[in-house]
Amino acid sequence: MTHQVRAVVARGKGAPVSLETIIVPDPGPGEALVKIEACGVCHTDLHYREGGINDDFPFLLGHEAAGVVESVGEGVTDVAPGDFVILNWRAVCGQCRACLRGRPWYCFDTHNAKQKMTLTDGTELSPALGIGAFAEKTLVAAGQCTKVDQTASAAAAGLLGCGVMAGIGAAINTGNVGRGDSVAVIGCGGVGAAAIAGSNLAGAAKVIAVDIDDRKLETAKKLGATHTVNSKDADAVEAIRELTGGFGADVVIEAVGRPETYKQAFYARDLAGTVVLVGVPTPEMKLELPLLDVFGRGGALKSSWYGDCLPSRDFPMLIDLYLQGRLDLDAFVTETIALDEVEKAFERMHHGDVLRSVVVL
Ligand SMILES: NC(=O)c1ccc[n+]([C@@H]2O[C@H](COP(=O)([O-])OP(=O)(O)OC[C@H]3O[C@@H](n4cnc5c(N)ncnc54)[C@H](O)[C@@H]3O)[C@@H](O)[C@H]2O)c1
Ligand SMILES: [Zn+2]
Ligand SMILES: [Zn+2]
Repeated sequence: MTHQVRAVVARGKGAPVSLETIIVPDPGPGEALVKIEACGVCHTDLHYREGGINDDFPFLLGHEAAGVVESVGEGVTDVAPGDFVILNWRAVCGQCRACLRGRPWYCFDTHNAKQKMTLTDGTELSPALGIGAFAEKTLVAAGQCTKVDQTASAAAAGLLGCGVMAGIGAAINTGNVGRGDSVAVIGCGGVGAAAIAGSNLAGAAKVIAVDIDDRKLETAKKLGATHTVNSKDADAVEAIRELTGGFGADVVIEAVGRPETYKQAFYARDLAGTVVLVGVPTPEMKLELPLLDVFGRGGALKSSWYGDCLPSRDFPMLIDLYLQGRLDLDAFVTETIALDEVEKAFERMHHGDVLRSVVVL
């Protein structure tokens, strides 16, 4: 059997997205069909639409989602129909060299559904990050479904599926922020704001938010930033050093994805400190740094894919913290919108008007 559902499709480079009817197959072995309840609009969806990821149009966009499992294919035992799940783009394989070494959060061979979803004329769709959740239903690998407490709001829970997890994980997993650390976060959109919340959860003593937009700095304060710097008016590196006794922060998280902000992060950290790059650069960007500074300042320069998260470990834990009132996921939801408003949400994102627009179905 197949299912005809409404979904948001990007047909060509830079062209506005369109609401289309798509065909979703019943789950085969190892797959799950999920009825989507909410899906956040992430910058990466816009990257796809602009052809910045690859040219495999048409894309089925959307990948920060929560929903309910409708049916599962043969051999699926981890999730069952009726389960409330967050979709993830790291369904670990258990077999690759990273998994075999006990580091599944680096898994190099993650699973997606084998069967293809298509347009009504049979054209195969490329689901964003192997998910494709701006749709009433989507087909994923069962391992992409992580069961969490069903009392959580779907709009908030879904955000853990990408950007918010990436930010929290950049702080707690990749940056290894600990009690008493000083942290600076450059770029306070959805991802950077989450890095601030994550640093707070980890017990950072000082959390400095840096952005060029005062609106973002206001939200950063609500999520636990102890200091804010508008780097349009002030030199970010000097400001961070001033706020840290002249030394720089223990951990600096770059959540913009540009060479100039990476350089700020590099020089705004203390000796032996850590830089985490969680912002995603574009292919033409280049970085130039004196190699002697890279050596001489010591410490660690790391990048963070999906916050080095392990969905089965991190999603249920963060949802529990959310339900206990210790992690304000609702603060990331600026607005809820309908499925046909994704293009408008891209525009608002482009103008910096939102932390997250979330499609609610
Ligand atoms: N590593 C991952 O796994 C992962 C996952 C999701 C998103 N991302 C990436 O993280 C980045 C941020 O995503 P987002 O959803 O928060 O985007 P966003 O557009 O909501 O936020 C970007 C923020 O950076 C600020 N900014 C822009 N230029 C700046 C500058 N020169 N100095 C300081 N601040 C500046 C903007 O004002 C904005 O607040 C993007 O590159 C996105 O692709 C990475
Ligand atoms: Zn693996
Ligand atoms: Zn994303």
